[in-house]
Amino acid sequence: MRILVTGGAGYVGSVSAERLLAAGHDVVVLDSLVTGHRAAVPVGARLEVGSYGDLEAVAALLERERIDAVLHCGARSLVGESVREPALYYRENVVGGVALLDAMTRAHVGRIVFSSTAAVYGVPESSPIPEDAPLRPINPYGETKRAFEGALAAYGAAAAIRSVTLRYFNVAGATEQLGEDHDPETHLVPNVLRAAADGDELTIFGADYPTRDGTCVRDYVDVADVADAHLAALEATALADARTAEPLALNLGNGGGFSVREVLDAADRVVGRPIPHRDGPRRTGDPPVLVADATRAADILGWRPQRRDLETMLGSAWEWRRLHPAGYGD
Ligand code: UFG
Repeated sequence: MRILVTGGAGYVGSVSAERLLAAGHDVVVLDSLVTGHRAAVPVGARLEVGSYGDLEAVAALLERERIDAVLHCGARSLVGESVREPALYYRENVVGGVALLDAMTRAHVGRIVFSSTAAVYGVPESSPIPEDAPLRPINPYGETKRAFEGALAAYGAAAAIRSVTLRYFNVAGATEQLGEDHDPETHLVPNVLRAAADGDELTIFGADYPTRDGTCVRDYVDVADVADAHLAALEATALADARTAEPLALNLGNGGGFSVREVLDAADRVVGRPIPHRDGPRRTGDPPVLVADATRAADILGWRPQRRDLETMLGSAWEWRRLHPAGYGD
């Protein structure tokens, strides 16, 4: 296949592009480089610098490159920023995303895999969360992802676009070449490893939650496993494939959760020394527990995460950090 990866210079997008190349597919990366990194575009992929929301340019690109399928990882993805700047999120994640679907329609590209998020569920009523749980996002980020999921269903019916939506839980880890480099960095795993490397104290956001040790529980899934799921999902969008006769939404998680303290303990073991930390106040909008029911991805895609323990995920992230102390350096 010839696959366009939007956001392919970002964390999940670059690792997924690398996986698609390894499987023998041709990859064109479309990335504005606003939050992505030129150096994260894997060797063998061609980089087109631009916005997926530029209908004319994307339609021309899809035709020129004879693209078969789109992997749409490009998006704004910070919860706090989405609360402060909702216009940015609606403009890029929803309006820009719809322009991408229009460009696909115009260029007769009928296959898409979409990076969604556990944030579409909001504060779940039960755990683990199945895909048919009510979608009640509690911030503009989750709301814009839910809106685009709705657009995918509508375009599926109106424009014969086959789609798989992947709702990620907490992605962590790295491959040999590619890792996580955000500015600002808000995620737990890279912040824990930065504390290990720089000696800056990590703040635990809330130690009084109704969980086994008082800290929030999340479902950490390895970025390489997430990339494997993208490959399987893209294959499932083939025209004759009954699995995507209707739009499909799948959770990607380990199906088990780890608390913030458990992540810290595992990181202590990986780096070989205690990581400085302190208990701080809760961060607004954090649900106590977010754990995926990932059985649908196993049943439908045959996807089962292979790197399920924290030490593996933290170990690869730590190794990447050791080799790239300044991240991508841009
Ligand atoms: N945490 C800390 N200290 C830090 C950073 C995080 O204690 O310095 C805690 C958070 O409070 C949370 C857990 O670590 O309990 C994980 O936080 P992350 O920021 O790494 O991840 P989130 O669970 O907040 O975010 C994930 C996805 C988002 C998605 C969200 C849904 O990364 O895309 O789940 O709630 F929106």
